[in-house]
Amino acid sequence: MIIAIDGYSSSGKSTFAKAIARRLNYLYIDSGAMYRAVTLFCLREGIIAGEKIDLKKINQSLDKIRIEFIYNKPQNLYETYLNREKVEEKIRSITVSEHVSFISKIKRVREKMVDAQRGLGQNKNIVMDGRDIGTVVFPEADKKIFLTADVDVRAQRRYKELLEKGLKVSFEEVKKNIVERDFIDENRKESPLKKADDAIVLDNSNMTPDEQLEWFMNLYNSINKNDH
Ligand code: DC
Repeated sequence: MIIAIDGYSSSGKSTFAKAIARRLNYLYIDSGAMYRAVTLFCLREGIIAGEKIDLKKINQSLDKIRIEFIYNKPQNLYETYLNREKVEEKIRSITVSEHVSFISKIKRVREKMVDAQRGLGQNKNIVMDGRDIGTVVFPEADKKIFLTADVDVRAQRRYKELLEKGLKVSFEEVKKNIVERDFIDENRKESPLKKADDAIVLDNSNMTPDEQLEWFMNLYNSINKNDH
């Protein structure tokens, strides 16, 4: 069983996907973490310098990038590793957020990530979140949800999250990054962010995480009932 959750930046996809995975005892995979890890690698290697990305170098370096999700037993969650180094926190920085949409536009990067994502999903019950999971990675997913929320609500949630992590950012800066990423993600040539024809839209602007899980479980139970 594959559950695909796509949607806009900071629409709460990972909170929603993690809650579903916990409830159903499925594996949760954060596909955005993979694009973030590639971006961190590029920043460190000087492949991204200011506004410029060295496309030739990135294509040559792709084979040197190994991304894994390793289980942290005490915390009961999977964490992102880049070439054996835990990067779970580092990939959430504002610098990575500012560059990730440019890296995830690149065709070869996407091909490599999509291959890896399909491999991770083989013969398993999974919940995967991202931008193209229901359209490109798993077009045959059993359930597809497209999450959205008002841009100010999304910016406020993200702003709060970053402040709680002790990062110094302004609300305007956070909102600008979200608007920019939405635009690039929706307008890129390679597998743009788009609702799959058979996805169900959930606008969670006025919903708590518990209400969203309840909404999903109703949907899940009703579809399963109809299947039998
Ligand atoms: O879900 P996130 O915000 O952590 O994702 C970071 C970026 O990665 C996002 O701006 C677009 C890109 N992304 C993508 O292109 N395709 C995916 N399946 C997941 C993320």
